[in-house]
Amino acid sequence: MDLLSIDNLSDDQIEHVLDRSVTLYQQRGRTIGGLEGRIVFNLFFENSTRTLMSFATAAHRLGASAITLPVEQSAVRKGETLEDTARTLDAMRPDAVVIRHQENGAPAAVALVIDAPVINAGDGINEHPTQALLDAATIRYRLGRIDGLKIAICGDIKHSRVARSNEKLLSRLGAEVRLAGPPELMPDGVPQLSVDEAVRSADVVMMLRVQRERLSEDLGDAPGEFLRRHGLTAERLALANPDAVVMHPGPINRGVEIDNSVADDPERSLINIQVAMGVAARMACLELLLT
Ligand code: NCD
Repeated sequence: MDLLSIDNLSDDQIEHVLDRSVTLYQQRGRTIGGLEGRIVFNLFFENSTRTLMSFATAAHRLGASAITLPVEQSAVRKGETLEDTARTLDAMRPDAVVIRHQENGAPAAVALVIDAPVINAGDGINEHPTQALLDAATIRYRLGRIDGLKIAICGDIKHSRVARSNEKLLSRLGAEVRLAGPPELMPDGVPQLSVDEAVRSADVVMMLRVQRERLSEDLGDAPGEFLRRHGLTAERLALANPDAVVMHPGPINRGVEIDNSVADDPERSLINIQVAMGVAARMACLELLLT
């Protein structure tokens, strides 16, 4: 089985991964073993801090070894196609392959060639399923449920694989998902909602970075302008449910989509819990696919 999209998971598998993630998170990152002798290949064709390091940490905590291909020094830079790279790596018989790539569908193309389970760690503007799983586990851990919650996902929806995977997963789990952002950063066919409208009475406010590396349009915003018009300030957060929590997949751009006081709020910001839950959720996914 591959994990390329949230659609690859059954309802039972989602329940299992979320429960297991919360349990592993509560064990505070203990090494538990279970996958001794297994090898996980990490192929990151795009920059990453959280996702790359959490997959490697998750593998090690399970007793497996993670090996990261240094893409910049690899034969990819000598003109080898992605399929040929995948065939080469497959011949080494890894037990799982984690891949992040700038093109939509690259993990699916690699999965056709590689025998072992392939996990999508983010492809273009398509999906980032393990991020959605760790986000759902964080919400369930903190708020006790997902069903019936109002969840605002705000910012650059058009270029966000995090938004796509979360929209699929959180609505499947019974949440009311509201997508909002500047009109030029909203995908076609999604109802226009301002950030104010989405945040009003929300239980969870998830902010997203403007994906400048994927942007063809020039936002032409003056410093501070994006925050004032579309970002999460303390004033805007005051529109939400008084107990609302704040999330962000990272990396955060301080003073752009989120104000410092909100990002660093020790009561309401779950950003660091998301990072810790990221290791737990990736452990749960590796266990699911490799045992
Ligand atoms: C995100 C990504 O790369 O899709 N980051 C992450 O995995 N935590 C979001 C982003 O880059 O803005």
